[in-house]
Amino acid sequence: MSTETALPEEGRDEQEILKALDEFARNDPDYRGGRIFSLTYHLSDAHEKFITDAGRRFASANGLNPAAFQSLKRMETQIVAAAAGLLHGPDSVTGMMTSGGTESCMLAVKTYRDRARRLRRVRKPEIIIPLTGHVAWLKGAEYLGVRVRRLPETRDHRPDLKRLKKMLGRRTVMVLGSAPEYPRGMIDPIPEMAAIAADAGVPFHVDACVGGFILPFMEMNGETLPAWDFRTPGVTSISADLHKYGYAGKGASLILYRDVELFKDQIFVETDWPGGIFASAGLLGTRPGAAYASAWATLQRIGVEGYRSMARETIATAEALKKGVQAIDGLAIIGHPQGPLFAFRSTDPRLDIFAVGDRLEARGWQVDRVQQPDGIHAMVTMKHAQICQQYLEDLAACVQEVRENPELATKGSAPTYGMMAHVPMRKMVREKVRDIFAGLYLPGGGAVDLSQQPPARGLTGLAERAAGAIANRRARRQRRK
Ligand SMILES: Cc1ncc(COP(=O)(O)O)c(C=O)c1O
Repeated sequence: MSTETALPEEGRDEQEILKALDEFARNDPDYRGGRIFSLTYHLSDAHEKFITDAGRRFASANGLNPAAFQSLKRMETQIVAAAAGLLHGPDSVTGMMTSGGTESCMLAVKTYRDRARRLRRVRKPEIIIPLTGHVAWLKGAEYLGVRVRRLPETRDHRPDLKRLKKMLGRRTVMVLGSAPEYPRGMIDPIPEMAAIAADAGVPFHVDACVGGFILPFMEMNGETLPAWDFRTPGVTSISADLHKYGYAGKGASLILYRDVELFKDQIFVETDWPGGIFASAGLLGTRPGAAYASAWATLQRIGVEGYRSMARETIATAEALKKGVQAIDGLAIIGHPQGPLFAFRSTDPRLDIFAVGDRLEARGWQVDRVQQPDGIHAMVTMKHAQICQQYLEDLAACVQEVRENPELATKGSAPTYGMMAHVPMRKMVREKVRDIFAGLYLPGGGAVDLSQQPPARGLTGLAERAAGAIANRRARRQRRK
């Protein structure tokens, strides 16, 4: 067994270990060079060092019991207050830090499920989320036994408000709007949606995991945005990620409720456990102190003026990228994105957008694909100012390559992505993806040989194998006929 897969008999030399870690990172996406469009929010090595220094001071501290490490509670209280102010909340806003957007979303589902159960005896709870609501909501609902009703969209990719009115019922425990949503970067019509929910007496959550720490600064910079925060009547809670456009270290998000009465349903309490009386407001037990310290330190370091100027630069980059994409014949932005992220599609049936994605990857870009419609996604951060021109030049060249070689649509991962997006057997795709994903966790890393993995290929291999399995099953069916 190699040193990495077994505990070494004797502890190893620190320098040797750090070198080994650097080696691990060798094939990771080039986030410092801005060649990846999601997963990382890297400002600079200096900022990374600063937040690591801040976190190191609380590396052993545990947020599990808020009464024990009062340092962490103090940081959390100040972070929550700062965010509540930024989001124009009333003095009553109550909330907490969580480990990330997914935890914040899940907690909201739990809160509103339990609230409806307690106040209205709802036994089969449902949440209504727009088609573009983040997958974390689907995951949370599945974990918590809550049914999801997907709100269809209109032709211009906006949530269908007429349908929302019709879908609301006795079982509805929460309605969701996003600011902005992930797939296309559009801000949902929050005032209209929240008013409809409020009329039916249903709480309304705004998922501002992406927007929470950039939209307020865009507004301060004079941009006109639709209303979405606590100023909007009917908005009962908001999630906002510190580890996205807040540029804190990973593991930091916020969930904020309009008042403490709403927050109470989030809290788990057990009174008869031999280990003692126990209460916990979040999903985690042990909660790393470093996440609080890094988030607090980041907010203090950057400040309003820093975030304003970063928002200005990020949005200028996003706008330049959108304009550049629109200028390429055969490409169009999907919907009407209003923040730092967007997606684009092909308007020419002969131009396969997934083949364009493959060509971009061949040039060293990490590409995120979207579906319904098929497209390429870009989550723009401060890092992308430096690559804007290069990306657009490469994109134009890739479009040209695919136009000149239409057979590229049948090569590489393009047909696989196309098939995965369109094959009608969704249940089978789901089962296959689950099997293959489980394979990644087999002893020794399962299907993935990390030493062989080419950089920046995302889930391509996974999709390829799922498509292969589907094709095999189809062939078997054909033979049986
Ligand atoms: C709108 C939205 N909500 C929630 C999440 C989940 O956040 P996390 O990845 O921090 O769990 C994301 C992630 O991109 C998001 O875009």
